[in-house]
Amino acid sequence: MATRRLPGEAWDELEDVEIGALDVSRPDVEALVVPNELVDGNVLGRFPRLRLVANYGVGYDRIDVGACRAHGVAVTNTPGVLDAATADLAFALILAVRRCLVAGDRYVRAGDWNAHWSAATMLGRDVTGATLGIVGLGRIGSAVARRAAGFEMRVRSVRRTAGDLDELLRECDIVTVHVPLTEETTGLLSRERLALMPDGATLVNTARGPVVDEAALVDELVSGRISAGLDVFAHEPDVPAALYDLPNVVLTPHLGSATVETRAAMTRIVVDNLLAATRGEEPPNRVA
Ligand code: 8YV
Repeated sequence: MATRRLPGEAWDELEDVEIGALDVSRPDVEALVVPNELVDGNVLGRFPRLRLVANYGVGYDRIDVGACRAHGVAVTNTPGVLDAATADLAFALILAVRRCLVAGDRYVRAGDWNAHWSAATMLGRDVTGATLGIVGLGRIGSAVARRAAGFEMRVRSVRRTAGDLDELLRECDIVTVHVPLTEETTGLLSRERLALMPDGATLVNTARGPVVDEAALVDELVSGRISAGLDVFAHEPDVPAALYDLPNVVLTPHLGSATVETRAAMTRIVVDNLLAATRGEEPPNRVA
């Protein structure tokens, strides 16, 4: 059973996949496909014959891995195939925020160009040559670093929680987050740490909302001291209403892996894991 149909040809290799919700008891279901939806002990209790949870995504922070282990349920994810798409989106947000892309688009559509243009209208900040801080130098963070080289940026990085994050925050014009959400990284960018970012700096988050203290970030953004490009939020799909009218924020609805090619490649991985489990083999992307 899947909570949603997945895009891409590989999906058609599965026979009789039912699309259903997790809030109904299903004693017959052996495998579940979820796009990082909450699968905890309560959900597992409704699926007593479950053997596999195939997560449609690399981050599996909403799957209670401990509860799955306790119920004898394997968990798989989709690593590797979405690094480029997510790194591209991080750069899209960097460029959008630093070069007033969304404000500029609104300005043109509102017919304001002729009426109000001046040489100081909507001045952004240089991306080329800026100092970029990468928080989390795994597959996606490294893909961001490669893109940054093309923009002649100075790159500082920390790996998960190792390294001097405070110093990175103090030194960088732009900080982009690429750590998985774990107990260790929840609230990593705390109120105190956000305050270390220099005036005019930009925070980009395409990882997970709870890595950043969202209330503190909203305060910083409302004050106008820093700017942000946000693809992820603490309580998706809810976005703090205070952000809606801010000119210094670009908001996207968790689009990191959202390209035709990448989503199809993720589906391929999900299907391969399901088929392996059906044959009684170890699923290739098992994380628990
Ligand atoms: C989503 C993601 O899972 O891979 C991840 O960790 O956050 C995304 O790819 C995807 O958008 C489906 O929810």
